[in-house]
Amino acid sequence: MKVFRFDEIDSTNLEAWRRIEAGEGMPFIVVARTQTSGYGRQGHKWYSPEGGLWFSLAFEGDYRPELMSLAAAYAVAHTTKEVIDFCPRIRIPNDIVFGRKKVAGILIESKPPANVLGVGINLNVKEFPEELKSDAVSLHKVARSELDPDRFMELITSKFLKTLQSGNVSVSNWLCCLGQPVVFRCGDREVTGKFMGLLDFNVAVELDDGQLVECPVSLISDFRRAE
Ligand code: BTN
Repeated sequence: MKVFRFDEIDSTNLEAWRRIEAGEGMPFIVVARTQTSGYGRQGHKWYSPEGGLWFSLAFEGDYRPELMSLAAAYAVAHTTKEVIDFCPRIRIPNDIVFGRKKVAGILIESKPPANVLGVGINLNVKEFPEELKSDAVSLHKVARSELDPDRFMELITSKFLKTLQSGNVSVSNWLCCLGQPVVFRCGDREVTGKFMGLLDFNVAVELDDGQLVECPVSLISDFRRAE
């Protein structure tokens, strides 16, 4: 697959869209050593120093957003386990975490039939700014070794595309917080309850009164363990 490499760029997602609009054939990858304006879901700034793996995969097809989202999380989680032999968890919708700390984030943008999957992994990042220290960790810290970014990128890309083609993905073995009290936003509603798992592409939660409620993965944000 064609790979466009940069030392520094504003955002690999933005560069992928610029290339799609300029007529570049898909699929292709944009990868950069650092990003000056990396961004995440809900427009959050994404800290992208040297040592991280910041890349975007541009691909064509009309897929369910929930399938793309979970297929990407599965690909990152599975690759991590395969390479470093430590099992991360998927925090809905698609954060990759060790304990409470995030090691990778996923952002999917679609203008059908074009899609851009942005993957940000704190691969060999050595230091985080004070405000991120309690929420972020690098794979280098977990594995205690220097990791090969190209190997991660290739494995993630091939697992992701293969899962998309298959049309379904099972992430139950990887889910964070199963059976535990959680709180999250479902659209503009806050939900608190016991996380029972995924039914189709909906998060199922048992409320205090025993009622089971479901929320589509695509509407979920700020998912966390309830204190
Ligand atoms: C999130 O957790 O909110 C998603 C973060 C996605 C960050 C990646 S880094 C590569 C790509 N380029 C961007 O500007 N964002 C994504």
